[in-house]
Amino acid sequence: MIKFKIRRQDGDRVWHETFSVEETPGMSVLEALFFVQERLDGGLCFRYSCRGAVCGSCAMLINMVPRLACRTQVSDAQSEMTVDAVKWGALARPVAKVGKDEILIEPLPNMKVIRDLVVDMEHFYELLDYIKPWISAGEEVPEGGNLMSPKVEQKIEAYTNCILCATCYGACPVAGRDETYLGPAALAKAWRFYLDPREKEKDKRARLEAVNNQSGVWGCDVVFKCTAICPKKVTPTQGILAQRRQIPKNKIKNIFNRGKKSED
Ligand code: FES
Repeated sequence: MIKFKIRRQDGDRVWHETFSVEETPGMSVLEALFFVQERLDGGLCFRYSCRGAVCGSCAMLINMVPRLACRTQVSDAQSEMTVDAVKWGALARPVAKVGKDEILIEPLPNMKVIRDLVVDMEHFYELLDYIKPWISAGEEVPEGGNLMSPKVEQKIEAYTNCILCATCYGACPVAGRDETYLGPAALAKAWRFYLDPREKEKDKRARLEAVNNQSGVWGCDVVFKCTAICPKKVTPTQGILAQRRQIPKNKIKNIFNRGKKSED
């Protein structure tokens, strides 16, 4: 048997409850939560859908680390307990004392809790909408199609794997103190569309200008927590830093182009 200490919430009432779960070989944390829901407390609320690390809906804090419950094995959560609790303690700010043999389960930080482990994702999606996560290529398709070189495709792929689970947002210290901050997922997505050769040049420039502020790429603390915990190996901090480098490059390009036009 393994003990799960789960943070519960119903309106303003917050409490922690410990459940003993019968562990089976290869059991995931999500399966342990099913065990609790089916056999011990049918009122326990959590989100899931695909059960295969695709939909991103089962993100939560597992032993103070933002992770996908369907992708985290109970045995891994147990063995990593001490190391991660120290590493991520300041992030999770647990209010409960955890015993050596317990696994602590809490909702993702930086988001309003609706009930138990279910958080309100609305603000996270609003931030994502702000960066216009679509290509503005228009109707015209060049002869031969919109082909992309393997090199560019590789660069973009590092960012397209995002499943919008919000573990990065839950791990981000800036998101915790500034709700206007776009956050790692949205900023990584902005860079993904900037890199896309199908996007028109003027739209690329506008895209970069929209994140050229403190709520955008300049707000990041560059602590790499988002990159460290992403379950799909997306690298948001690297994308943010790339945009920081690209902004002055574009400015120089603009000045140069303006000078060229006036000469003409
Ligand atoms: S249930 Fe879909 S990612 Fe975990």
